[in-house]
Amino acid sequence: MQFIKTQDGSYTVFNQKYQEHYHTISGALEEAFEKHVNAVGVENGFHILDFCFGLGYNSIAATRGHKNLKIIGLENDIKIIEAIKNLSVPTEIENEFAAFRNLAENPEITDPHNNTIKLIIGNALQTVYSLPKDHFDRVFFDPFSPGKQPEMWSRKVFQKLYNVIKPGAKLSTYSCAKSVRQNMIAAGFKVMDGPIVGRKSPATIAVK
Ligand SMILES: C[S@@+](CC[C@H](N)C(=O)[O-])C[C@H]1O[C@@H](n2cnc3c(N)ncnc32)[C@H](O)[C@@H]1O
Repeated sequence: MQFIKTQDGSYTVFNQKYQEHYHTISGALEEAFEKHVNAVGVENGFHILDFCFGLGYNSIAATRGHKNLKIIGLENDIKIIEAIKNLSVPTEIENEFAAFRNLAENPEITDPHNNTIKLIIGNALQTVYSLPKDHFDRVFFDPFSPGKQPEMWSRKVFQKLYNVIKPGAKLSTYSCAKSVRQNMIAAGFKVMDGPIVGRKSPATIAVK
């Protein structure tokens, strides 16, 4: 697996099957903080669903400065989880990554601040059905783009996510595609612009 340096100094990977980077080239770590963690806000003790965990930037960024988080990550590619072991990360997030480097060998790890990441390896379109109802406070929604992976951005998937989150809970994603927002709204979400980071168009925040 070949790591590619993004403009904030953090690394991403290029996926051959989807012909897409895992993150924006303007900054993988910046994307995690600005489009996900800071965009929706995280509080100690939150239950978080990381839908398409990849290298874990979104979840691991969420643990910085927080305690008692219960994070579930859905991911179908064990190779990308293995790549976390050798991922070089900016110093600001080094300690947080240090705790979770062995997720490929141990899919449930708790860091010194009692933040737990538990991975469910498999097709997220199926594993999402194993999650409890009305449970999560936040969802980081991060599949490949709607053009490349339309099945991930369907009304059915958003309906399932709507069911597993609490009233008032928020979902963050980088896409602002009209069809995506229509599917979110059809599933019951209120939809608003997220921050503009690394490109002209805004991200999206969906609220139950
Ligand atoms: C855009 S990348 C996510 C980047 C990730 N959030 C990170 O911080 O590295 C999309 C991820 O979704 C995973 N993925 C794609 N299809 C999936 C599926 N059906 N079920 C679970 N994971 C899937 C890919 O393996 C990849 O790791």
